[in-house]
Amino acid sequence: MILLTGCAGFIGSNFIHTWLAGGNEGVINLDKLTYAGNMDNLTGLQGDSRHQFIRGDIGDRELVTRLLEQYRPRAVINFAAESHVDRSILGPGDFIQTNIVGTFHLLDAVRGYWSQLPDDVTASPSRQNFRFLHVSTDEVYGTLTATDPAFAETNPYLPNSPYAASKAASDHLVRAWHHTYGLPILTTNCSNNYGPYQFPEKLIPLVILNALGGKPLPIYGDGQQVRDWLHVEDHCHAIMRVLESGRVGETYNIGGWNEMPNIEVVKTICGILDGLRPRVDGHRYVEQITYVKDRPGHDRRYAIDARKIQKELNWKPKETFESGIRKTVQWYLDNPEWVAGVTSGAYRQWVVRHYGGQE
Ligand code: NAD
Ligand code: TYD
Repeated sequence: MILLTGCAGFIGSNFIHTWLAGGNEGVINLDKLTYAGNMDNLTGLQGDSRHQFIRGDIGDRELVTRLLEQYRPRAVINFAAESHVDRSILGPGDFIQTNIVGTFHLLDAVRGYWSQLPDDVTASPSRQNFRFLHVSTDEVYGTLTATDPAFAETNPYLPNSPYAASKAASDHLVRAWHHTYGLPILTTNCSNNYGPYQFPEKLIPLVILNALGGKPLPIYGDGQQVRDWLHVEDHCHAIMRVLESGRVGETYNIGGWNEMPNIEVVKTICGILDGLRPRVDGHRYVEQITYVKDRPGHDRRYAIDARKIQKELNWKPKETFESGIRKTVQWYLDNPEWVAGVTSGAYRQWVVRHYGGQE
């Protein structure tokens, strides 16, 4: 059994699908179901005894302790976070609360559980084979110029947005819980993900859905900001590899070797849509592109040097950007019900009816 947090969100839900499809053991999924958590991401798992969903907060130490004692997981993977840079600029409070304070409570509850595990390499779980894997981002390293080398694990932390700063703080806590208390941790810092089940506030799903809805495709600033795109399934496989074979206490950078300026990403999506679902008026989707005011403090370039994980753990991405983005556009076209659900207010009412809390 493993305990996962935040797996009603984009990457976590993809992780559960990948994990269970690989024939692995059951999971407990602790998720607060914020606006970004969506039970529709987990369709197909209703009634599957390998997936147990618990609505709750990683900062609820009593709940986390109870779950750890009840299920005795051999590992915890922390996906839960507030994850959108624009929201962190408008309201950083939730980011401080979940990403920093929440991670602290989770870590400390896990430390209490781990410290009482048997000191016996043959037991499972034991103090030796237990793992706490913290899922983080390349944004903790700050921004690069066009000629800087890509981020390596040894780069200094220089976060620029409230989101990046809160994730950087959580990474530091995780590191300290290893160095001070000996908790067997692993940290992954990944580049921008794309793929199925991504909430349409992030660039790629936003552009696909706005294009289909006849809405503007907003490009911040000059559109020349560079991101390193990784298909979410590649990220999930990398996390699995780190969990099973990563060296305790280490950080692994994960990236797609796919640097691309935002404007090119958007034009690529437009071109794919022109082929798969041409506009009825005969116009092209690029005509919907609209340049808008830039994001404050917008990082210019991210790029990941993923040689450590490739060399030590023999992981590299399977998808190129061309193959991954085509599959992704097709997925959003093939799943209109998911799209309708994620964009409707009825979803919040459903969450409250089933799991309590506030809309
Ligand atoms: P997401 O916003 O889609 O999902 C976050 C999930 O966490 C949601 O289901 C939400 O309900 C849950 N959550 C939020 N606060 C919680 C709390 N206090 N307790 C329990 N659950 C809570 O995010 P994502 O894109 O899936 O990202 C997952 C992780 O990966 C995050 O830690 C993020 O920083 C990291 N990451 C994301 C990307 C990316 O491109 N999306 C890249 C690198 C790293
Ligand atoms: P985003 O998906 O928000 O991820 P992040 O900020 O974590 O990299 O944004 C990806 C890039 O796209 C980023 O440089 C900001 C830019 N962007 C736009 O130009 N327009 C948009 O509407 C959004 C959401 C993002």
